[in-house]
Amino acid sequence: MNHFLDIHTTDPTDLRQMIEDARAMKTARAGRPRGAADDTRPLEGHVVALIFEKPSTRTRVSFDVGVRQMGGETLVLSGSDMQLGHGETIADTARVMSRFVDLIMIRTFDPSVLTEMAEAADVPVINGLTDASHPCQIMADVMTFEEHRGPIAGKKVVWTGDGNNVCSSFLHAAGQFGFDLTFTGPQVLDPAAADVAYAREKGSEILIERDPYKAVEGADLIVADTWVSMHDAQSARERRHNLLRPYQVDKRLMEAAGSDALFMHCLPAHRGEEVTSEVMDGPQSVIFDEAENRLHAQKAILRWCLGV
Ligand code: CP
Ligand code: NVA
Repeated sequence: MNHFLDIHTTDPTDLRQMIEDARAMKTARAGRPRGAADDTRPLEGHVVALIFEKPSTRTRVSFDVGVRQMGGETLVLSGSDMQLGHGETIADTARVMSRFVDLIMIRTFDPSVLTEMAEAADVPVINGLTDASHPCQIMADVMTFEEHRGPIAGKKVVWTGDGNNVCSSFLHAAGQFGFDLTFTGPQVLDPAAADVAYAREKGSEILIERDPYKAVEGADLIVADTWVSMHDAQSARERRHNLLRPYQVDKRLMEAAGSDALFMHCLPAHRGEEVTSEVMDGPQSVIFDEAENRLHAQKAILRWCLGV
């Protein structure tokens, strides 16, 4: 069964094929009204469950619209309205859902919920973000980079700030797509050692550089994310802000990177915190292409999972 749980646990040839399929589907839709169905309707007769245990705008809307464009139907469910994990085991929910729907996408906290769901489900499961990773996001990011700059292999990505779930998926992608990544942030927020080791074992150059100005030298892409993620305790907010302020992406840092460097952020962004509005709305920013490509990348992921 084709579950899409993480970038490093998915075959690299399949990942590349999904990026190519996403690109082809995006091209085929060019100029069509947003709500119009695709010419081919590979998900006709399929029902996809979208379960959210955390808030979401992009993931929710892009999966929902993507399924509809391909002729399928969705059930958008809130984890708190379900029995998931409190009224019954995750595995029992997975077994029951498998009797009704053709695929489950879940956004949850502990990654063990995702793996338990995938182990027990008889239908494909997609990771829509956990505390540990966000693979759908990085598929869209790879697609976006390549639209603007060609193959990502051999390029230098700089991750700024917190070595969080999105950073982990970037490290997985570095290993699978063959690019290098420099992390710049405070030591206490370094990315997971296992993810750094994974990318290094796959041959990527992964550097940790505390000085953000040194880190961005020769960068092809600068990436920022929120300083406080949904799974972080709100009580950590002030301390994190103090630790992370030197890593804000502003015009001066983008200038140090050079005019060819792109800027990405998975969004939602906190303007004036991890990135300034000047950079977000500036000429190097591709954040809204990145958001749009969630739709196209996830349509390719859905088709790969369902084999349609
Ligand atoms: N980037 C992203 O996943 O956004 P949402 O939290 O809005 O889904
Ligand atoms: N790191 C962020 C990403 C949001 C899409 C979070 O987990 O809250």
